[in-house]
Amino acid sequence: MSWKLLLNHAYVPYSKQAEACIVESTNGLFYGGVRIENISYPLTIPAVQAACAICLSEGEVPAKLYVPHSNLDQLHFWSNEFDAQIVETNTPPIDKLEDLSCKPASNFDELERLETLLDAAITPNSDFPVSALLFFKDGYFEGVNIEVSEWSEGICAERVALAKAIAAGIQKFDTLAVHTRKGEVSSPCGACRQVIAELLPYHTIKLHHSDGTLSEHLSVDLLPFSFKSEALNK
Ligand code: THU
Repeated sequence: MSWKLLLNHAYVPYSKQAEACIVESTNGLFYGGVRIENISYPLTIPAVQAACAICLSEGEVPAKLYVPHSNLDQLHFWSNEFDAQIVETNTPPIDKLEDLSCKPASNFDELERLETLLDAAITPNSDFPVSALLFFKDGYFEGVNIEVSEWSEGICAERVALAKAIAAGIQKFDTLAVHTRKGEVSSPCGACRQVIAELLPYHTIKLHHSDGTLSEHLSVDLLPFSFKSEALNK
């Protein structure tokens, strides 16, 4: 097994430099992450951050970081954070990756699922759990926000859901649903709006507010006059 399969899922239209990482948890479960670039370059999600955040969002703790080479973005931060061993290899355990896509049951209640999912958020700094469900044609991916010792290395619920889907090779999405229990309203942050604008440009974003109400927005309306440039053409 080579890295090719996972590298092919990376979203790297600007650099064309695909990156992938596999995290093995302390319980021996495997999670893949790929690099997800953004037209605003600093919003790019490095593969190691994606893989570790995915692992943590599943209630697991990173123990080993499998990488194709040791100069991946953020590798040492995440390795130090969890005292995780770095394993440089050309034969990654791709066949062992968890399938994180979910299928809605016939009695699926979106808000109920979002509410339950809040318990999986890791929010030692903010105590502000957020949950997200990203729907695609065959089901959905779940996301929660993950905070670590360094504030700026944490990642929002919306982007964890996107990181799971893209690592799984899904790039076409339907709707994205978001929920917070504590916010006066549930509303994606500016960084998520920029990422959503690129990956779900004309999609419905469903915001389940803490008072039980729901508002639906077209993603393009959540970030009017957004940053775009032909100069950064893919
Ligand atoms: N957060 C999200 O997960 N999504 C958003 O769109 C808003 C912010 C998280 C990030 C951080 O863990 C906490 O909420 C406070 O910013």
